Amino acid sequence: MLFGIGLRSAAIALALAAAASGGSSAAAAKAQRPWLNASLNPDRRAELALRAMTREEKLTLVFGYFATDADWKKYKAPKAARYGSAGYIPGIARLGIPPQWQTDAGVGVATQGAAPSKRERTSLPSGLATAATWNPQLAFQGGAMIGDEARRSGFNVMLAGGVNLLRDPRNGRNFEYGGEDPLLAGVMVGSQIAGIQSNKIISTVKHYAMNDLEAGRNYHDARIGDSAARMSDLLAFQFAIERGNPGSVMCAYNRVNGDYACENAWLLRNVLKADWRYPGYVMSDWGATHSTEKAVESGLDQQSGWPFDDAPFYGAPLREALARGNVPQGRLDDMARRILRSMFAHGLVDRPVRIAPIDFASHARISRADAEEAAVLLKNDSRLLPLRADTRRIAVIGGHADKGVLAGSGSSLVYPRGGNAVPDLEPKSWPGPVMYDPSPPLAAIRRLAPAAVVSFDPGTNPVAAAAAARAAEVAIVFVTQWAGESFDPPLSLGAQDALVEAVAAANPNTVVVVESGGPVLMPWAGRVKSILEAWYPGTSGGEAIANLLLGAVNPSGRLPATFPKDESQLPRPVRPGTGLKDKEMFTIDYSEGAAVGYKWFDRNNLEPQFPFGHGLGYSEFAYSGLKAQVTAADLFVTFTVKNVGKVAGKDVPQVYVAGDGWEAPKRLGAFRKVALAPGQETRVTVRVDPRLLATFDSATRTWRIAPGTYEVLLGRSSRDIAARASVRLPARVLPVGYRP
Ligand code: BGC
Repeated sequence: MLFGIGLRSAAIALALAAAASGGSSAAAAKAQRPWLNASLNPDRRAELALRAMTREEKLTLVFGYFATDADWKKYKAPKAARYGSAGYIPGIARLGIPPQWQTDAGVGVATQGAAPSKRERTSLPSGLATAATWNPQLAFQGGAMIGDEARRSGFNVMLAGGVNLLRDPRNGRNFEYGGEDPLLAGVMVGSQIAGIQSNKIISTVKHYAMNDLEAGRNYHDARIGDSAARMSDLLAFQFAIERGNPGSVMCAYNRVNGDYACENAWLLRNVLKADWRYPGYVMSDWGATHSTEKAVESGLDQQSGWPFDDAPFYGAPLREALARGNVPQGRLDDMARRILRSMFAHGLVDRPVRIAPIDFASHARISRADAEEAAVLLKNDSRLLPLRADTRRIAVIGGHADKGVLAGSGSSLVYPRGGNAVPDLEPKSWPGPVMYDPSPPLAAIRRLAPAAVVSFDPGTNPVAAAAAARAAEVAIVFVTQWAGESFDPPLSLGAQDALVEAVAAANPNTVVVVESGGPVLMPWAGRVKSILEAWYPGTSGGEAIANLLLGAVNPSGRLPATFPKDESQLPRPVRPGTGLKDKEMFTIDYSEGAAVGYKWFDRNNLEPQFPFGHGLGYSEFAYSGLKAQVTAADLFVTFTVKNVGKVAGKDVPQVYVAGDGWEAPKRLGAFRKVALAPGQETRVTVRVDPRLLATFDSATRTWRIAPGTYEVLLGRSSRDIAARASVRLPARVLPVGYRP
């Protein structure tokens, strides 16, 4: 017994001693690596880590590798990279700094097309679709969902957050961005970034800046004045950064006012880092670094995606420039410090990523909710939609609606679970493949209308399609526009226009469902009863479309961009770069300045096909009691919204502001998405960001609100104004770094 007690106490003593020594060694390690102490602020942690680093370790952090083999460069990706993804930056194990594993992008975890095996993941609707929800909470949830998939796929940097302003509806990447208005785009994309980063990973915001067309993106020089840029494209970035707090900013391929975006001191050093006091790091787009010294000095912190660039500028050449004294050591420290700071601030060090199972079923529901709020009911004569429950014969035509829904292509393409629903389309390689998410609208319509006979015609022959339409009570024609990175698709739907005309001539009850990257031309708009813009609706797109057509969901999307009648209405009727040889340099003069989208249309009294902010639903909303008042120098607008229709639904009251001497007659000042049951009303108060009431004065680098009377317009769209109020604003000067 005694013996037993003695043994036991000896064992306890031993265990205690071990724990004590383990504890003290952990404490010792912490004392040696104090930057791992999560209770310190990220600036302090970055500083402490930096002090412990050798020059070689700092150089490691600033040079990124492509994470996929690139045959055309005889390049093999590093072994520790997550194969088939966008990028990899080695960690510093001795200091507890993990690698940076980078994945595209804005609609989910993408796979680089060259990789033989694909990561099949959930795709959100396109970025422009999410912007069309005008629902920042939904954007956050979608971001949180794809960020979760990124983390569980082993990625801690997501290259999402595209916010280039929709200056030209022909831009092939408009589908990745947030539309034509700086406030809407900034709020929506910023919310998505915040959602992604809620997973303790970094998101970027991109492509900084003025990469507003894909044509010749490496060879064009976007020209715009300082003030106009700060009131348009840069303001969208500013709003997105303020709301989303992204760990990184990705600079773009193009030149801006003569300098490449990734070696542009005005953009990077002056505006982003000095004026906005951005504390994170700037990474280059893949192949967008063009120098060592100039890029370093201008503010680029990390070269991405070697071997996309002509030289490993931030590899050996940077080491040599440091040795020669052409790059000061202090700047390398600043570059490494910024990267470390974001890694600490966003949880990369404290919450290492691990590959883990993904809840695809619940993620598909999140994607569907986004698609359902994103679709914009552009037209609905005689209330053709929602389809009546007693409809007996429905003809579904075209758009591969029997197989799936179209996606946008390029680096952001998410390979769907179940594979490409229409695998044989050209091009099959870059910028392809043309991807259809396997969520067929046809099957979903049949499920929701079990009593109806629902036929399908592929729409390849207008005569056959017209016959199918004639035999039905309602014809639903699907039309598609494929867009993607590195090219700018036509706005015309080409042969599909004749298909729509033929169907509309055969059946007065024609609905057109559009799957497009952005605005398209609709010469037939006057001859069909209903048009639903579904964008690229993602993983659950077919179900979402069916739910909207059949009334299970009430449409509530609003256009985040103006749909022109034709290209003659655009600031540049002929697309810049047209007719040039590959790699020929050219200039795009953004002479419309800050008058982008509806601002251009308003300023020039142009009647669009469908205006910015437009969107119908199956209910009606009445506005009353508009009040505008100034409290503590800020403008607050209050009003009542009432659902006066018969079904529950969501509305997006939009507050526009109008002042003298602006780039355009009015600007979007605020918006709010509200959900109301029939008969229900709510009082809404919104604050107008003072920068939206000001002009930017480049000489003094301040935002200036002129004293005087301003108009406040409450509208259903930029062209459907329901109420007006006027308000006197005192003079106000805001510093360049103003943050609300
Ligand atoms: C695109 C970026 C993308 C990067 C990495 C580039 O081609 O412009 O948006 O994040 O590739 O794949």
